[in-house]
Amino acid sequence: MSSFRILPPLRRLTPSSTSGVRFRTNPVSCHLRTLATTTTPPPGNRVAIVTGAARGIGRAIALRLARDGYSITASDLPAQQAQLDSLVGEIALLGTAVRAHAHAADVTSPAEVAALVRSSADTLGPLDTMVANAGIAQVKPLLELTPADFSRMLEVNVAGVHYCFQAAARQMIAQQEKANPGDQAAAAVVRGGKLIAAASIVAFKPFALLGHYSASKWAVRGLSQVYAMELARHRITANAYAPGIVDTSMWELIDEGLGHRDGRAKGESIRKYSDELIALGRTSVPEDVAGLVSFLASKDADYVTGQTYIVDGGIIYT
Ligand SMILES: NC(=O)c1ccc[n+]([C@@H]2O[C@H](COP(=O)([O-])OP(=O)(O)OC[C@H]3O[C@@H](n4cnc5c(N)ncnc54)[C@H](O)[C@@H]3O)[C@@H](O)[C@H]2O)c1
Repeated sequence: MSSFRILPPLRRLTPSSTSGVRFRTNPVSCHLRTLATTTTPPPGNRVAIVTGAARGIGRAIALRLARDGYSITASDLPAQQAQLDSLVGEIALLGTAVRAHAHAADVTSPAEVAALVRSSADTLGPLDTMVANAGIAQVKPLLELTPADFSRMLEVNVAGVHYCFQAAARQMIAQQEKANPGDQAAAAVVRGGKLIAAASIVAFKPFALLGHYSASKWAVRGLSQVYAMELARHRITANAYAPGIVDTSMWELIDEGLGHRDGRAKGESIRKYSDELIALGRTSVPEDVAGLVSFLASKDADYVTGQTYIVDGGIIYT
């Protein structure tokens, strides 16, 4: 029996679960050594899918990961095909050795998400990182929400992340098994995977008038934690990023909604919230978030899993 056999979680290790395994020191330290094995391929040989990449935070993430040496499959709704094509062109101009590919998919459709993952693997090769960034927001008091408002929010922001993580993880596990048939543990040591989702500061402290949005992002945090638990044995990590107030189309919509409710002109709500809430004194830009995702997608984050990291300039303190 190989000393790389996958063992149960540390707290459930018993003498019988380790029998037949050859340890140089003791079972616990051997288990830790196996978990510490490198999982991220070097720059230039990595592939990431980014959803919601046509604009805003997703676009900045795609460009940043390309600069980091990732080949990129950029995805968004079919209506955003022109923006995706322009992003692919921009990545080509970076002059790096990376490649880019656009594939439209609605993240609420498991079949479309599965096709997205297949198309990425067929075009760019094995998948290393899935950034489930696509999301929607809506400003509405809880008492006015319709069932359709509520289910649409959960369908895009929570089920969408789940379909992306599920399809990506299935692909990553299949890659491992193909690379090393019959020895899943050894294969996982060669290439793991990273699942990264868009949460929000409202996953820690909800905003009034963003009730169902807040609930959806709170769910993303929980979902990422369970993915981290269930997929650790495949060397696949799962984390989320939690931006604060980022100046994108989404905040334009929130600004308009809050302004409409509270009698403020366009642009005043984002200024008010930024001035009153952000310690660092400026509204966030998409590149602030892309920097954090760059870390989560890097080898430096190989030992980070099940976490949701806030990047908000100092609104929420954990
Ligand atoms: N802007 C912020 O302040 C902020 C703060 C916290 C979290 N976030 C989260 O970050 C992510 C990106 O936000 P953004 O500000 O760039 O938003 P955005 O509205 O500018 O971009 C979101 C993108 O997702 C795409 N999208 C929407 N529904 C989709 C679907 N069903 N399938 C595929 N693509 C879909 C849109 O077409 C759009 O291109 C979202 O998940 C958002 O909730 C944003």
